Amino acid sequence: MDKILVLDFGGQYNQLIARRVREQHVFAEIRSYDRISLPEIIRRNYRGIIFTGGPNSVYDPAAPRYDAGVLNLGIPVLGICYGAQLLAFLSGGAVSGAENGSEYGKTRLQAAEHPLFSGVPAESICWMSHTDYISTVPPGFKTIAFTEQCPCAALARDEKKLYGLQFHPEVTHTEYGRQILANFLFRICRCSGDWDASDFAARLIEEYKLKYADKKVLLALSGGVDSSVAALLLHKAVGKDLICVFVDHGLLRKGEGDYVEKTFREKFNVNLIRVNAGERFFRKLAGVTDPETKRKIIGEEFIRVFEEEAEKIGRVHALAQGTIYPDVIESGQGASAVIKSHHNVGGLPDVISFDELIEPLKTFFKDEVRSIGTSLGLPPEIVWRQPFPGPGLAVRIMGEVTKEKVRILQEADAIFREEVDKAFLQEKKDAGLSRRPDQYFAVLTDTRTVGVMGDARTYGYTVALRAVSTDDFMTAEWTRLPYEVLERSGSRITNEVPGVSRTVYDISSKPPATVEWE
Ligand code: XMP
Repeated sequence: MDKILVLDFGGQYNQLIARRVREQHVFAEIRSYDRISLPEIIRRNYRGIIFTGGPNSVYDPAAPRYDAGVLNLGIPVLGICYGAQLLAFLSGGAVSGAENGSEYGKTRLQAAEHPLFSGVPAESICWMSHTDYISTVPPGFKTIAFTEQCPCAALARDEKKLYGLQFHPEVTHTEYGRQILANFLFRICRCSGDWDASDFAARLIEEYKLKYADKKVLLALSGGVDSSVAALLLHKAVGKDLICVFVDHGLLRKGEGDYVEKTFREKFNVNLIRVNAGERFFRKLAGVTDPETKRKIIGEEFIRVFEEEAEKIGRVHALAQGTIYPDVIESGQGASAVIKSHHNVGGLPDVISFDELIEPLKTFFKDEVRSIGTSLGLPPEIVWRQPFPGPGLAVRIMGEVTKEKVRILQEADAIFREEVDKAFLQEKKDAGLSRRPDQYFAVLTDTRTVGVMGDARTYGYTVALRAVSTDDFMTAEWTRLPYEVLERSGSRITNEVPGVSRTVYDISSKPPATVEWE
């Protein structure tokens, strides 16, 4: 299998670079520059190396650098932005600070004829985001593209297969970015382009069959896409030796617990233990109103329940988790500020004894996990499920969590999701939604207000509806839902759900708000 190394110097688009490479059916892995040595690079037999961008200036003493020996391995190198400046610097060129060299945004690029620009017109648009620029092209290199501000927007040393781009080919605003990356992968690195996430998963299953034959594997199944795909993959490998524990904390969406159980038990015949632990979670949550305390209680109780089940099962060989690639990359890049303590079924136990941790999805991006899930026959409802927080509806119920409030919220939430789904499916016919929001749900506020129903006065809860559009959930825009969808959802909720007298729509984006209310 051809592999490309994305050598990470801290740029904001680095995951995107790896995804763009994989989109062209070439496997790419991201490694931080300070976590892979030159001998390891040699050992891993890469077809090509991409130096990423980064926020530093090459002359900064703290700037990330790499052993210049990497340029003499005979492996093609493509430097992007900071990566191009580093390539120039390591090769004896010069990089200068802004003056008038800096550029930001869409920029007109003039490209020479060169294999890297095969299929790219002499003039096109690229995306720039830099202050420093390459002011002296290193010996042996030639400039192969420029812009009005930037005398060297791309450089090459063909006989050593070294290339640099000051602009970002991975960003869609660069018109021919995909083409340029394809040229690097196929014309220069000579990759075969036969990598596919699902084939890779199929090979993993064969490997696991041998490695874990007759060994017990334990997995915490949440019903989310990651743990579900991990479960199916392992089930194909070890069959009944996989034991999935599904802890139903009583804070799931309407009908969800039964749906997950039915799917895995009946459709896939997976060895599943469902623990209906609602009562004990409600007991622990009685009287608790602070959001962080709720999260901690649920996270801890979850582990307790899981441990108890594991103890009943006895010793298992391995614990499996649905960790995916972005989790791995992010955890390797230092801690960022904790905004909310995210409860994750993945954050499981220190105390359960097992010999091995299996993370079958740890090299895959979310979209790849979805395509593997589809190829394994996972129903679209699970494959395309919107994210659902581990603490469940508890973080969507303001104030104390009670059974009654959970019931109200489950009903209201089911109505809202049904209306949004209907509008999305009707999109072609009328003023429906052209793109389904990425996450949409109801929240039960702790505010009660007066209403009238028939001739009687009511005093019920206020339900808030939330829908957001986002690429990565790090930032999010509130979705401009059609009024008709809001109208139908609101009127159905107040009419059909006893205990609710008012519905409001949340028009906060992230930041400054977060997606969840707690
Ligand atoms: P926030 O509220 O932080 O949410 O803007 C961003 C995304 O993360 C989900 N989320 C969680 N997921 N455990 C999870 O597994 C959690 O504790 C948790 N809190 C928030 C949220 O639904 C959104 O998709």
